[in-house]
Amino acid sequence: MKRLMCIGLLMMALGGCASNTSDENRQIHIGVSVYDEYDTFISELTQYFYSYATQDGRNITVEIYSAEKSQLTQNSQVQGMIADACDVICVNLVDRTAPSKIIDMARNSNTPVIFFNRELVSEDLLRWKKLYYVGADAYQSGQLQGESAAAYLREHPEADRNGDNMIQYFVLEGEAGHQDAIIRSESSVDKILEEGIVLEKEGYAIADWSRTQAQTQVALLIKENRNVELILANNDDMALGAIDAYRNANIKKEDRPAIFGIDGTEVGLEAVLSRELDGTVFNDMKGQAEAMFALAKALSLGEPLDGLGLIDNKYIRLPYEAISLDNIDKYLEE
Ligand code: BGC
Repeated sequence: MKRLMCIGLLMMALGGCASNTSDENRQIHIGVSVYDEYDTFISELTQYFYSYATQDGRNITVEIYSAEKSQLTQNSQVQGMIADACDVICVNLVDRTAPSKIIDMARNSNTPVIFFNRELVSEDLLRWKKLYYVGADAYQSGQLQGESAAAYLREHPEADRNGDNMIQYFVLEGEAGHQDAIIRSESSVDKILEEGIVLEKEGYAIADWSRTQAQTQVALLIKENRNVELILANNDDMALGAIDAYRNANIKKEDRPAIFGIDGTEVGLEAVLSRELDGTVFNDMKGQAEAMFALAKALSLGEPLDGLGLIDNKYIRLPYEAISLDNIDKYLEE
């Protein structure tokens, strides 16, 4: 079991989840398990979560673990955190279709669980009252990406490099089965079509949210000399992988397809600023971390959950926002 970091003043001898006390000085003990510590977006979100916990001024201990892409590892991490008497556990599922073990352990020990980013189906979330989800609306991110891409294509008629009045596009997809991959790809393309742009699908590749995998896939496209005028990437890291491939092939920006990402990670924002990435969509990692922390704290202290933005007492979803050179300053300051 790999622990990433542990903060807090004291690891007290905790005797179970005292979630019904609201003693101001009581220590709070939060456990977090992420699916993969090397995921850029997740690592930014976790860092924000960690900062909210350290800046809170209360006696808070946070244990953060990486499941290293193994659901079995994550299950035993959760078991360990329950044994450590965590008041609440935040879980970024490895396999979003396999939360059963975690739900059973949580219910048996009366430990609330906040799932985040990798969304379990609602039937699973409804299996116990102390299960929550914090994330965002994948459909909206696709729509915003599509809207930015359509605006860009209208402003840059030269993007139709072969002049056939159609835009040949390629999709770089995240993990198969991830809600943000399936939905983003569809809704982005739908939006561009709705905006009146004629598209022709040149292909797609699953690149698992990974910069290197995306680079390999796009290097292949370049090698095959395929005519691609637009690349829609399900996240910034894959968009950056595409840019790496063009850069490595010494293809200048003006000869590359338009490239769009989603996330607004630090590296993503830098690429928008340097005009290599034509646009991205802000996946509010800071807002998600803040909402998760506020919920974790309220659950730990047994406080009411009103005012935390919960939908149906279960979900908190932060809105996405389109990012381009016109409004990037706002995000660089975050
Ligand atoms: C983010 C990706 C990230 C994935 C991990 C998505 O919401 O956009 O960058 O890799 O979540 O689950």
